[in-house]
Amino acid sequence: MTTAGTDSKKNRKLMQVLGGQVLPTPPIWLMRQAGRYLPEYRATRGEAGGFLKLCYTPSLAAEVTLQPIRRYGFDAAILFSDILIVPDALGQSVSFLEGEGPKLDPIQSAAELNRLDPSKTGTKFALICETVARLRQDLPSETTLIGFCGAPWTVATYVVGGEGSSDQAAARRFAYRDPKGFQQLIDILVDTSVDYLSQQIEAGADTVMVFDSWAGTLPDREFATWVTAPTARLVRELKKRHPNVPVIGFPRGAGSNALGFVKETGVNGVGCDTAMPLHDMRVLAKDAGVAVQGNIDPLLLVAGGEALDRRIDETLQAMRGLPHIFNLGHGIVPDTPPDHVARLMERVRAFAKVHA
Ligand code: CP3
Repeated sequence: MTTAGTDSKKNRKLMQVLGGQVLPTPPIWLMRQAGRYLPEYRATRGEAGGFLKLCYTPSLAAEVTLQPIRRYGFDAAILFSDILIVPDALGQSVSFLEGEGPKLDPIQSAAELNRLDPSKTGTKFALICETVARLRQDLPSETTLIGFCGAPWTVATYVVGGEGSSDQAAARRFAYRDPKGFQQLIDILVDTSVDYLSQQIEAGADTVMVFDSWAGTLPDREFATWVTAPTARLVRELKKRHPNVPVIGFPRGAGSNALGFVKETGVNGVGCDTAMPLHDMRVLAKDAGVAVQGNIDPLLLVAGGEALDRRIDETLQAMRGLPHIFNLGHGIVPDTPPDHVARLMERVRAFAKVHA
């Protein structure tokens, strides 16, 4: 790495906040900032001929990652991909049917785990990492590049259920009936995710985020076993290989389990969902010493107007003096007007000037 490269890295605001710094204006990026609400995304997806083809075509995946950066100038870009690349690469082929979400041939017992083959992942992971490498070349030097994977529990809910569900019943049943077998599945996912994230970091990701979108349906004991413990092992193993790369956790729906999650996993940042009170976000930043990210309701961004302005201001005010990353509490939804995103950006960026 050249000296110039090292110096320009220092301007990455998201990295500064993940390192514990407090900035006058928080860095901002939005989950699912690339996606169907943007006409240019829909055009590129059409060109690719499908969602998974888009993920596995580095030039097009890089293009859709860059689209929201060009339009809005976010402080971070998140690799365009999906959490289900991991089971797909392991050999449990995934398909995305238009309007129906993901479909996988479910694995519902320990005897079927031999369908997952970690030695097969190389080719598909290499395509994703080629996207990462292109992005690091093409992004402005001050823009942080976020790599990601799904957390073992959330990915397991799709591996076992074969599709999305509101209660993750199939995975919960498997875990209760055969905890040893379920642990084997979780272990495969932890080991594969550590390799996958390491490869993304080696290709140029500055930080990585672990999405546990379905953490919220588990009782406290199971939350500790299937959310906190596997994430803690994942973070520990990753930091053995890449000690200086910060990790962001996102235990969506964790509620009062969030503080223990942060302390036990060793994450450097935590994504907060829409239901997390601002007071609790402050407590996480103060008592656990992590950067906090979130938690505007994506539907408020659809509505826009004064209610959105008020909540933006409240959030910025509440998080003053703490390491804060401005974001939503969950991903942007397809019916979000692109103008509302522009208005959100302007308001966040103006805040420090107004309140200096
Ligand atoms: O911009 C970004 O945030 C990066 C890209 C990204 C996608 N998926 C693109 C995507 C990221 C980080 C994800 C993570 C992901 N994928 C999660 C965790 C975060 C969350 O939203 O809770 C989950 C649970 C998935 C699984 C998944 N992928 C589902 C359930 C679906 C179908 C639902 C839907 O929104 O269509 C997807 C598809 C998907 N992943 C799309 C995008 C842009 C839509 C695909 C399309 O173009 O039709």
